[in-house]
Amino acid sequence: MGRGFLLALEGVDGSGKTTQAQLLALSLLQQGRDVVLTQEPTTGPVGQKLRHYLQGPTRHLSPLEELDLFLTDRREHVEMVINPALAEGRMVISDRYYYSTVAYQGALGLDPGEILAANEAFAPQPDLVFLLLIPVAQALERLQRKRQVSELLPYLERVAAIYESLADQRIQRVDAATSSQALHATLLTRTLAALEGFEGGGRRS
Ligand code: TYD
Repeated sequence: MGRGFLLALEGVDGSGKTTQAQLLALSLLQQGRDVVLTQEPTTGPVGQKLRHYLQGPTRHLSPLEELDLFLTDRREHVEMVINPALAEGRMVISDRYYYSTVAYQGALGLDPGEILAANEAFAPQPDLVFLLLIPVAQALERLQRKRQVSELLPYLERVAAIYESLADQRIQRVDAATSSQALHATLLTRTLAALEGFEGGGRRS
């Protein structure tokens, strides 16, 4: 059996990743595909600690401490969820992956290239990444819930700039300042095209 397909959705808060990851997973499941929908930060102990921290009153950890926690959470995610699913030939859709660390912890002043290398030392490279593009101010307007400590305009502008600077052929940039249905249609078409290429010989074994 060949290795499964790993797809990640990336973008600033409010870009619609979570909705699109769910819609995509649902459409692919309805087509009879074996899909695992997952997310980062995870629902594991470190992921929960991170969410709690981000919802707290202040961003008191140092950039390196944050980086360390996101890497620990991702190691668990890779070992317990992503690698086992890929080994079984399943398709994994991750709502955020290591480009989030490159962009968000990079925006705190850490070196994006070093963050990328630290992740690629243990985390499987995705087969496809959708980077949802939307002006940050518009993305923040969409957030109905209480803002997290990371959801501030100047900071997210830096996050967006690092996302924009990523030069990686696996990353497909998609205009997310559109309706949820239109965006879903685009992502589904592009995913099916990528899967076709993958299953038709591009599959890594
Ligand atoms: P988010 O997708 O906003 O979760 P939710 O929709 O449940 O609120 O992710 C939480 C925050 O974590 C988001 O602001 C980005 C941040 N984050 C990092 O700073 N580094 C990372 O490596 C990851 C995965 C997320």
